[in-house]
Amino acid sequence: MAKVAFIGLGVMGYPMAGHLKARGGHDVTVYNRTAAKAEQWAAQFGGRTAATPAEAAKGQEFVFACVGNDDDLRSVTTGENGAFETITPGTIFIDNTTASAEVARELSAAAAAKGAHFIDAPVSGGQAGAENGVLTVMCGGDVEAFEKAKSVIDAYARMVGLMGPAGAGQLTKMINQICIAGLVQGLAEGIHFGKKAGLDIEKVIEVISKGAAGSWQMENRHKTMNEGKYDFGFAVDWMRKDLDIVLAEARRNGAKLPVTALVDQFYGDIQALGGNRWDTSSLLARLEK
Ligand SMILES: NC(=O)c1ccc[n+]([C@@H]2O[C@H](COP(=O)([O-])OP(=O)(O)OC[C@H]3O[C@@H](n4cnc5c(N)ncnc54)[C@H](OP(=O)(O)O)[C@@H]3O)[C@@H](O)[C@H]2O)c1
Repeated sequence: MAKVAFIGLGVMGYPMAGHLKARGGHDVTVYNRTAAKAEQWAAQFGGRTAATPAEAAKGQEFVFACVGNDDDLRSVTTGENGAFETITPGTIFIDNTTASAEVARELSAAAAAKGAHFIDAPVSGGQAGAENGVLTVMCGGDVEAFEKAKSVIDAYARMVGLMGPAGAGQLTKMINQICIAGLVQGLAEGIHFGKKAGLDIEKVIEVISKGAAGSWQMENRHKTMNEGKYDFGFAVDWMRKDLDIVLAEARRNGAKLPVTALVDQFYGDIQALGGNRWDTSSLLARLEK
C-alpha cells in the first residue's frame, strides 16, 4: 500500500483514482479544481480531499495528475500552490495528461532539481478503458522510478511500457494519435461509400472486420457511425489539441505527416458544424452533410 495523491478528477482521472483506491488498495488523497467533484469522489471511494495540489502532494510517495493540456499541467505543478511546492526527494510524479514532450522534459528537470522524479505517462483506451481499469500507459522517465511506479499504475492499466527518457511517453502517444487519425477517416469513407452503394453496413462490417481491414475503431465505432450518433467518447476538441501537439513536434523533427495534417483540418470542419464535444468518429458527419 502506497501513499498516493491524484490531481484532476475528469472523465479519465475520476475512475483512475478510484482504481488506485479500490483495486490497488492505496491510501489516496484527491484534488480537483471544482471541489464538488473531489467531495463526490471521496464519498464514493472513501479517500481524502485536499484544497490545493500542494496540499494533496504533501508527504506522498506518488503524485498523479490527469488534467487538460500543457498550461493546465504547469498550473498544478510549478504554478502557485502547485504540487512541486511540496514534493520532496524520492517523490515520483506521474503525469497521465496528453501533453507535449517539451513540457515533460521541462517538468522532469524541475522535479530533478528537488531530488524527485517525473514520469510522463499518457494513456490510451478512452473513458471505457479508464472505467474498466484497462488503459494502455506509455511512459517516459528513468528506469528506477518507472519500476517503482509501474506496480502502482497497474491498478488502472492493462499495458504499461517504458518507452525511453522524459518525453518518450508523450512521443509514443503522438504516434498513437497519428495512427488513429488516418484510420478513422478511412473508416468514415468506407461507411460513406457503403451507404451510397446501397449495402447493409452492419453486414459489411461483420465480414470485413474479420479480415485485414479490422481495427479497434471499426469494432467499437461502426455501429454508432452508421446511426449518426456522436454524443459520447473522445471529443474532437481533445483530438485537435493532440494533433496540434503532433504537428508541432513534426515541424521540429522533420517528419512528414500529410494525412494527419489533412485530417486535422477535417476535424476543424466538424468543430464548425458544432461538433466540438462529438466523438472523433464524427468525421463521417462532414461527408454526409
Ligand atoms: N477522455 C478520453 O477519452 C481521453 C483518452 C485518452 C487521453 N485523454 C487525455 O486525458 C486528459 C484528461 O482528459 P479528460 O477527458 O479526463 O478531461 P476532462 O473530463 O475535461 O477533465 C479535465 C480535468 O482536469 C482539470 N483541470 C483542467 N484544467 C485545470 C487547471 N488549469 N487547473 C486545475 N485543474 C484543471 C479539470 O478540473 P475541473 O473539474 O475543475 O474542470 C478536470 O478534473 C487530457 O489530456 C486528454 O487529452 C482523454
